Amino acid sequence: MLILGLETSCDETAAALVRDGRDVLSNIIASQHELHEEYGGVVPEIASRAHLERLLPIIRAALAEANVTLRDVSAIAVGHRPGLIGSLLVGVSAAKALAWSLGVPLIGVDHVHAHLYAGFLLRANNTSKNPEPETRNPKPNSLFPALGLVVSGGHTLLYRCDSPVTLTRLGGTIDDAVGEAYDKAATILGLAHPGGPKVDALARLGDDRAFDFPRSLIAPGSLDFSFSGLKTAVLYRVRGYPGQSPAPQALTDSSRADLAAGFQRAAIGVLITKLERALDRLSEEGVMIRSLIIGGGVSANSRLRSDAADLARRCNLRLILPALEFCTDNAAMIAGLGAERLRIGAVDDLTLRAEPTTVG
Ligand code: KG4
Ligand code: ZN
Repeated sequence: MLILGLETSCDETAAALVRDGRDVLSNIIASQHELHEEYGGVVPEIASRAHLERLLPIIRAALAEANVTLRDVSAIAVGHRPGLIGSLLVGVSAAKALAWSLGVPLIGVDHVHAHLYAGFLLRANNTSKNPEPETRNPKPNSLFPALGLVVSGGHTLLYRCDSPVTLTRLGGTIDDAVGEAYDKAATILGLAHPGGPKVDALARLGDDRAFDFPRSLIAPGSLDFSFSGLKTAVLYRVRGYPGQSPAPQALTDSSRADLAAGFQRAAIGVLITKLERALDRLSEEGVMIRSLIIGGGVSANSRLRSDAADLARRCNLRLILPALEFCTDNAAMIAGLGAERLRIGAVDDLTLRAEPTTVG
């Protein structure tokens, strides 16, 4: 079964070919970062126009890299929610046209849920002698029930996962997503957008105990998240409190690295605490969690990867992390989850709608 996946929910235009839900034959991504950089964030109209211009060449490139033709494709999967409505419409319209003209099933896939599938993807013909440990992930079905955490630029969500397609929401952010907090902290520290990876790199050079930033845990037992206070704390450290005199000294390379490290310790600390809370809650409910599944752009974060590995070891859980190329937005995760939906008959017709918000 060969699925063509399309992804246009935000500022990445992507197409991928995935065989049998796991083997990634091609994964082509055209980022629009350069188009939005001067605005400090994604401009929706610019994003949709760029998707329109880029999608067909990207699909052709994905077919060429996979060495297949459209006639070999068994189904078309498309990220149809959540995201920028104009951007989603480009992908959804293209997917409908392709599915209709080829006479193959159309499968709408939730982008946030697909991030949790990314850890099950494998690079087909991976000839590397030392594959990353996560490329040896076992087949999905031996790992459920699982605790899932999606950490991206737009979402921070905890799920109980009973299968790749059966997710129950346990909690989410009440303000900024963790990736958004990373990007805003990066801007405050003078790093270019999107700054998450740059804060991560800088944090590794700093002393994470030099600044003790607040961690909002909301309320005892709460599985929701809040990151806007942490972001504001970094802002006040760098620019001073309103009316503060004298104003703070200008940042040096070393204070910038310490601030990044302190921010990262607090942000990742909150994620780990919430994972622990969710595991406690599920255990009290008698649910025997077998694995921890993490996905989304921030799952590329070095501290999250190592702290989550420690947590999984302590709690005797399998840890499923995407290979780095599948952490941020891509269409392989859409095709992969599309295969799971196709397997259970969850296909769509031409009434499939682009929707700005996720469900569940
Ligand atoms: O999943 P994604 O590509 O897009 C959304 O669905 O939002 O996530 C992008 C987010 C950005 O906020 C980016 O700064 C963040 O993921 N990110 C990171 C790292 N790599 C990407 N944040 C922290 N550390 C990283 N290494
Ligand atoms: Zn995403």
